Amino acid sequence: MSVVGIVPAGGSGERLGAQRPKAFVVLAGRAMIDWSVEVLERVCDRVVVAVPEGYDATDAVAGGASRSESVRNGVEAAPEASVYVVHDAARPLVTEELVHRCVSALADGVDAAIAAVPVTDTIKHTDGQGRVVSTLDRSALWAIQTPQVFRADALRRALDADAATLAGATDDASLVEAAGGRVDVVDARIENFKVTSPLDLRMAEAVLEQRC
Ligand code: CTP
Ligand code: MG
Repeated sequence: MSVVGIVPAGGSGERLGAQRPKAFVVLAGRAMIDWSVEVLERVCDRVVVAVPEGYDATDAVAGGASRSESVRNGVEAAPEASVYVVHDAARPLVTEELVHRCVSALADGVDAAIAAVPVTDTIKHTDGQGRVVSTLDRSALWAIQTPQVFRADALRRALDADAATLAGATDDASLVEAAGGRVDVVDARIENFKVTSPLDLRMAEAVLEQRC
């Protein structure tokens, strides 16, 4: 079994608003991406990073126009994989333990095992104009993270889609679901949050400094 990590790091980080792409912003002493790559390298045989133009990594491919296109570029560069571990550079607090649990959850008949946490906020559906239509049953809702671990053939098939479909996907598991694949959640921790805004960056720095 060949396990290949794919790290989409090709975004610009518009909402963070830093001077450089988000994955290359310095966080607790090193580039944000280094935190994730170091963890994945302990579990995977190889880690491919999709980078923005003008940036580099040890095993790099060009980032795509959308997140899932970046993932596809990484997948195409690693055809030897039987399992892909997709993990966003924007989640630098990932742990080796969580990656292992996601890989282990890829049991027979499961196409993808994805890190997730139960939703703690009340979630309401609106009509798009600010009027509440209904309140969803929170007990069945999960907030989805990465790592997302895939059987290689299932991910390759799911990513064989047009640019608009790939651009509309906020994660890769949704593409596998759309193709009829089975996706299971893996209980993760809220600490594995995504760095999107400057506040997230400060919180990630605080957690990492406490860990060291
Ligand atoms: N990503 C990527 N290629 C893209 C867009 C995003 O590889 N064309 C990566 C980002 O680098 C990040 C992950 O996908 O690691 C999750 O995306 P997001 O948090 O939205 O990051 P950015 O797109 O960089 O941020 P923003 O949307 O604020 O511009
Ligand atoms: Mg983005």
